[in-house]
Amino acid sequence: MKIISINPGHNATVGYFENGECKCIHHEEKFNNQKNYLGLPLESLKYLQKTIDFNAVDYFVFPTADVLYLTTDKKDGSFIENISRTNKLRKIYDYLEYKTKLKIIFTSLRNFVLFYLINPGAKKSLERFLLNEFQIPKEKLIFVDHHLCHCLTPFFFYGLADLQEDFLLMSMDGAGDFSFSKIYQYDHKKRIFKLIANSSFDASLGLFYSEVTKFLGMKPNEHEYKVMGLAAYVSNEKYYKAIYDKMAKIIWLDEKKLTFHSKFNLNVASLYLKENLFCERFDNVSAAIQKLTEDLVLRWIEVSMKKTGIKNIALSGGVFMNVKMNQKIVELSEIKKVYFQPSCGDDSAIIGAVAKVFLDKKVPLKPINTMYLGHYYSNSEVAEFFQKTEQAEKYKIEYFEDIEKKIAEMLASSIIIARFKGACEWGARSLCNRAILGNAKDLKTFFEVNDLIKMRDFWMPFAPTISEDWAGRYVKNWDKIKTKTYDSTKYMIMTMESTTLAKEHLRAAIHQKDKTLRPQVVSAIDNPELHKLLKYYEQLTGMGGIMNTSLNIHGYPLVATLEQVVFTMENSGLKYIAVENYLVSKR
Ligand SMILES: [Fe+2]
Repeated sequence: MKIISINPGHNATVGYFENGECKCIHHEEKFNNQKNYLGLPLESLKYLQKTIDFNAVDYFVFPTADVLYLTTDKKDGSFIENISRTNKLRKIYDYLEYKTKLKIIFTSLRNFVLFYLINPGAKKSLERFLLNEFQIPKEKLIFVDHHLCHCLTPFFFYGLADLQEDFLLMSMDGAGDFSFSKIYQYDHKKRIFKLIANSSFDASLGLFYSEVTKFLGMKPNEHEYKVMGLAAYVSNEKYYKAIYDKMAKIIWLDEKKLTFHSKFNLNVASLYLKENLFCERFDNVSAAIQKLTEDLVLRWIEVSMKKTGIKNIALSGGVFMNVKMNQKIVELSEIKKVYFQPSCGDDSAIIGAVAKVFLDKKVPLKPINTMYLGHYYSNSEVAEFFQKTEQAEKYKIEYFEDIEKKIAEMLASSIIIARFKGACEWGARSLCNRAILGNAKDLKTFFEVNDLIKMRDFWMPFAPTISEDWAGRYVKNWDKIKTKTYDSTKYMIMTMESTTLAKEHLRAAIHQKDKTLRPQVVSAIDNPELHKLLKYYEQLTGMGGIMNTSLNIHGYPLVATLEQVVFTMENSGLKYIAVENYLVSKR
């Protein structure tokens, strides 16, 4: 059975799956160079079409069932937003919704408009577009509930069915198909999933966090990680307690029903924040929303486990991109096993959508367990590209049979170098196949990468990539964390406490205030060439980890094409990049 899964929304992605196995995943932003691209992943589909006969594909599935906010009528696959937040009418509606506090009436009206007036038209335009552009008949389209997709994603990715244990599959994001969070109880003996909790999107903690991000002058749905990074600079609760109390008044957890509720639709929470938090310090506001999020989510997990007696959990949805919160979840003593979906926003929801179809058709799921599923280039393609590019005379190109050794030597000499090798990692994080690497012991690396290349915010930390045999020396309680979180340690999805040795060896790749680290822990099986690089580095320096940050300029997605390599070199202070086995240096 052949399936193509498409996320035509925020963080657009496409995946191709055959008989229970994931063959590839392409993230649209890595083709069109537009970060968190919202729309139909047209370039990814066209790339896939070069190798896959769409006529032979059985189903095209979508990780959303009832709410398509967007209409596809343009030839280029971009969307017309049906309910723009900048629309004047929408602004009046939002204001009335907040001021009148008639929550039930406003939410019902909003749901009615979405379900009956917008969604049918949006679905029809999507069907029309896919038929005209790709000859995909509507009979082959399947739409799956958004939060069921989030819940099934780690189940498929980590192969949880093979563990023969009961699980709680828990999701939490901004909003999707009228919900912001669901819990499914998986009974491994009966092999059934039972929905035990569903929180409506108007009480969304994810939307609330985004509204705080907006209130702080940052980009909602994108810069939440900056708020999280800032929060760590406030170590004493007394500075943000009053703000926390004001925030806690408008959202709460019903511990019996395992659902969240709010005073008004949190989609318009910035109006409340403007009224109540005027002139509060930005770092204290960040600390308050971070602490409230941690408190509510941890309590939600605790009471869910208590109610069901199940101590294994799998978590997905954009809220679990919050790596600081994830660290606290791992520390919950009641949990036996916890699995975090890597890149758990809507980019990965396509996995859950396919899982639903395979499970319905009784096709066994093969664990995915890797992020290296994107597109790639051969050495000859790289050589040809750099010979033909208009900027060819600006660069010196040298071939190295053992490029990993060369990179390790440069890192040992504190030279910053980018690495572009193998299949591109999909998702939000760089896992070193598309990365800027640096000597993590040298704090100069931190400033050099920040000022010359990334041009990012001064308070944001970098992260380390470490070989697995060094993890116990760099991470406190490593054995316990590894046993509890299994392969989640490979994907930079949680922070950990650093040891004294890590503070010395990885000085530039830890949070500069709280000294936590968000490591990618690599074994020779996960990525043999990267592991080899780390081993060369270890031989040269006596250290087991390097600094890794995504290969991009601030505001752009991870560099994934050769054209973007040149763009990044031309528009930043980056001097060296290893592209496959070629070292490309600025003359
Ligand atoms: Fe989502």
